[in-house]
Amino acid sequence: MQQPIAILDSGVGGLTVAKEVMRQLPQEKLIYFGDTARTPYGSRPAQEVGLFTRQIIDFLMQYKPKMIVIACNTATAVALEESKQRLNIPVIGVVHPGARAAIKSTRKNVVGVIGTEGTIKSGAYERALKQISPSINVISLACPTLVPLVESGLFKDSQVTATVAEALKPLLSIELDCLILGCTHYPFLMKPMKAVVGPNVRLISSADETAREISTILYHRSQLAHTADAPVHQFFSSGDAQKFHDIAVDWLGEEMKQQTIVWQTAAVGE
Ligand code: DGL
Repeated sequence: MQQPIAILDSGVGGLTVAKEVMRQLPQEKLIYFGDTARTPYGSRPAQEVGLFTRQIIDFLMQYKPKMIVIACNTATAVALEESKQRLNIPVIGVVHPGARAAIKSTRKNVVGVIGTEGTIKSGAYERALKQISPSINVISLACPTLVPLVESGLFKDSQVTATVAEALKPLLSIELDCLILGCTHYPFLMKPMKAVVGPNVRLISSADETAREISTILYHRSQLAHTADAPVHQFFSSGDAQKFHDIAVDWLGEEMKQQTIVWQTAAVGE
């Protein structure tokens, strides 16, 4: 039986990473957990986010994954190192891939980062960026209003651009050429964000670089899937299953048509 790649997030945000993995590694089986019953994580204390992450990982480990992908910046910031030490399979997060993509992209040596309160407060991006390029200037901003907008499914409404503009306002007067979407929910808002920041600022999602990292690690471990059969993915959510399903199907679009997904609900930590 094929061992899956396990992906987790506080809700639908990790689907931005899952979609990219489906595109780059179409033979891989995914097992996804979105903790929609307890989202958002961004305003919760670090200790609680750490506990929730552990609970989800323990749930996912039942399915014997070959790798864990913490597709949530907030959880990556507080729980990546501990999870790496606790498990004997590769565990990756989304902060370093996002930082790498930004360093590749910036020409002005000034990088903006937006994320949840937890991610920004942790300083994880600043550390990751300066580890790669010590002279980089980092401007960080917490945008707590954006995740609830995505989880509500109302991110295509006409008022969305106004909410995004309000959230990004402090950054608009700063000379940036690239802005890291330091929350996996934010690519859902790519269109209004582009309209707000204008054509001179590149928006960096960590999804693409994270999928590439997964591919590289599995290749080096000789663990890439080789099968003639299309994988059957399992997607779990802990809250409103219908809402999760509708947002996921809409987001996955074309990728979805070539995939078989079994949708389930599961509660963890009760
Ligand atoms: N998508 C998550 C992140 O990347 C968490 C959002 C939240 O639950 O606040 O940080």
